Amino acid sequence: MGRRVLVTGGLGYIGSHTCVALCAAGWQPTIVDNLSNAKLSVLSRLSELTGKAIDLYQADLRDAEEMKKIFEKQPCDAVIHFAGLKAVGESVAKPQLYYDNNVGGTRVLLDAMARHGVRRIVFSSSATVYGTPERLPIPEDHRLRPESPYGENKAEIERLLAASALQTAALRYFNPIGAHASGRIGEDPRGIPNNLLPYVAQVAVGQRPNLVVHGNDYATPDGTGVRDYIHVMDLAQGHLAALAFLAGGSESITVNLGTGRGYSVLEVVQAFERASGRPVPYEIGPRRPGDVASCYADASLAARKLGWRAHAGLDEMCADAWRWQSGNPRGYPD
Ligand code: NAD
Ligand code: UFG
Repeated sequence: MGRRVLVTGGLGYIGSHTCVALCAAGWQPTIVDNLSNAKLSVLSRLSELTGKAIDLYQADLRDAEEMKKIFEKQPCDAVIHFAGLKAVGESVAKPQLYYDNNVGGTRVLLDAMARHGVRRIVFSSSATVYGTPERLPIPEDHRLRPESPYGENKAEIERLLAASALQTAALRYFNPIGAHASGRIGEDPRGIPNNLLPYVAQVAVGQRPNLVVHGNDYATPDGTGVRDYIHVMDLAQGHLAALAFLAGGSESITVNLGTGRGYSVLEVVQAFERASGRPVPYEIGPRRPGDVASCYADASLAARKLGWRAHAGLDEMCADAWRWQSGNPRGYPD
């Protein structure tokens, strides 16, 4: 149908999966990515999966001149804004870099959209804006108390969106995991993974000897941390639902994207062992500073307003993550 969408950060983990879902739904994505956390070979995998050539602009969002040129060359109906730095620990060490890249980059993007008459944006926010949960499951009207510069960036960008004249959807992701069912695209972190799933996957494939479980003395059923893991393709569909919502009226929305149920670290380990048929040895270590015991979404607003809900269970998430990891043990080719 020729609907065009500009996808910032479209070569990254969630952006690449969303591009596949967009193409399947008849959208034509154009990607803007500076390759700071992605490889060019993602693009050929996307063409292989979608059967379409996808335009890529290798550019930094903070480059206003470059962004202006991109919007001139590529008229679009909407923007999906994934581009950003996302390592919580690094944001504590380099708050200025995070502010410039995440908030500064978004300001330039919003300005370019306003100049070119693009009025709709879907933004990757995060459950991290809530900070330590005061109640569970977490509803959208929960107090916002981010506990890192990264989380503050997300909250500030949500405020920028709310203050803009644009029609906006801020999607607060819980814990995206898994991969496209083909196993051709997936999560490819640089260096030692910070997050549980890529770490577990690298242990299962034999690249790391064992997982360290960050604490087993939390007030949870087995003592390990509980999170709301959501299949990345369900998350991708959430973006399509958000685009449809924006096109269908004049409202803006801020909404959780999660499954509404939590799994513990040990449940994830067991599910991954089932999916891979490989052992995932682990040892119990101390708690990781900044971690909370449990975090899971009240996912009812997304169901009501977007008509969207997550479908995949933990076993499917792990099976798809394993297909990607075992087929691409070293991630994407350089
Ligand atoms: P990712 O690092 O895989 O993807 C982000 C992409 O943005 C990368 O390809 C990177 O090269 C690009 N990028 C970064 N800064 C840029 C800039 N200034 N200009 C152009 N491109 C730039 O991360 P992801 O996991 O796909 O996350 C996507 C978004 O979702 C991020 O905004 C992240 O904060 C948010 N989010 C992710 C998670 C998660 O667990 N993965 C959870 C909540 C929210
Ligand atoms: N964990 C381990 N060992 C590891 C890695 C993680 O035991 O090697 C545990 C953590 O302690 C936690 C659970 O696995 O209990 C999940 O940890 P992740 O790092 O995968 O995910 P988080 O919930 O800590 O963080 C994610 C995103 C952040 C975001 C945060 C809140 O990665 O960007 O959710 O939304 F800020």
